[in-house]
Amino acid sequence: MEKVELIYEGKAKKLWSTKDKDRLIVEFKDDLTAFNAQKKSQEAGKGALNCEISADLFDLLAQNGIRTHLIERIDATHQLVKRVDIIKIEVVIRNIATGSLTRRLGIKEGTKLPFALAELYYKDDRLEDPIINDEHAQIMNLATQNEINALKDIGRKINGVLSAFFADRALTLVDFKVEFGRGDYGEILLSDEISPDSCRFWDARSGEKLDKDRFRQDLGGVKVAYEEVLKRIKDKR
Ligand code: TMP
Ligand code: ASP
Repeated sequence: MEKVELIYEGKAKKLWSTKDKDRLIVEFKDDLTAFNAQKKSQEAGKGALNCEISADLFDLLAQNGIRTHLIERIDATHQLVKRVDIIKIEVVIRNIATGSLTRRLGIKEGTKLPFALAELYYKDDRLEDPIINDEHAQIMNLATQNEINALKDIGRKINGVLSAFFADRALTLVDFKVEFGRGDYGEILLSDEISPDSCRFWDARSGEKLDKDRFRQDLGGVKVAYEEVLKRIKDKR
C-alpha cells in the first residue's frame, strides 16, 4: 500500500490517503512538541521509536480484546490503519498524581490515586485542549453518553493491561492519553498512538522518568529514554 495524498499533518504525525478509501497511512515524525507546541524540537529516530512502540502496544491490546485502528506496521516510521471518524475527545487515565492534575488541584506530586482516574479533554488546539466533563461532551455533540461510558471503560481496560505489562518490565505506568474513532458500524476503535509521547513511565526502582517529560522539563536524554522503553517492551521476562 502506498501513500497517495497528504490529508492531515499534526504535531507528531502525518496522515496519508491510499488507493483504498478505507485505509490510511500514518507517518510518525521526529518532531517533539510540548505545551501546545509553544516548545518545539526534533529528535532523530523518535518517529521510528514511537511507531514501533505504539504498534507493539496496539498488538498487545488487540490480543487482550481491545479493538484498534491498526492493520500493520509497514516500515520503520509508517503504519497502515483503518480510516475512522475521530472522536474529538482525549481520554486521560491516571494512576499517580503528577502533571496538570497536581497543578490544577494541588494533589501532592506522586500520590497514588485510590482508583484509576478517567478525565476527558476537548481535542482542539486553538482552545489548548481544555478539560471537559460528560455533559460538555454531550452538549457539544462530541459523543453520546453511551460512547463516553465506553471510552472511559476501554481506557480503564487499557490501563489494566498496560499497567500489568509494564510492571513486569519494572516500569510504572503513571498516566496516559488515548484517542478513539468510530469504525464503519459506529464501533469504537482505539486510534492515534500510545508511546512515550503520550504516556508517563517511571522506572519502578529509580523513579527515573522515561517519557516526554524529559523534553518538557529539559532533563535531556529523550531518545535514550524512548529506546529504553522499547527495549523493555521487547524484553520477554
Ligand atoms: P497532563 O498531566 O499534562 O495533563 O498529561 C496527562 C497525560 O496525557 C500524560 O501521560 C501526557 C499525556 N498528554 C498527551 O498525550 N498530550 C497532551 O497534549 C497532553 C497535555 C498530555
Ligand atoms: N502534545 C502537546 C503538544 O505537543 C502537549 C504535551 O504533550 O505536553 O504541545
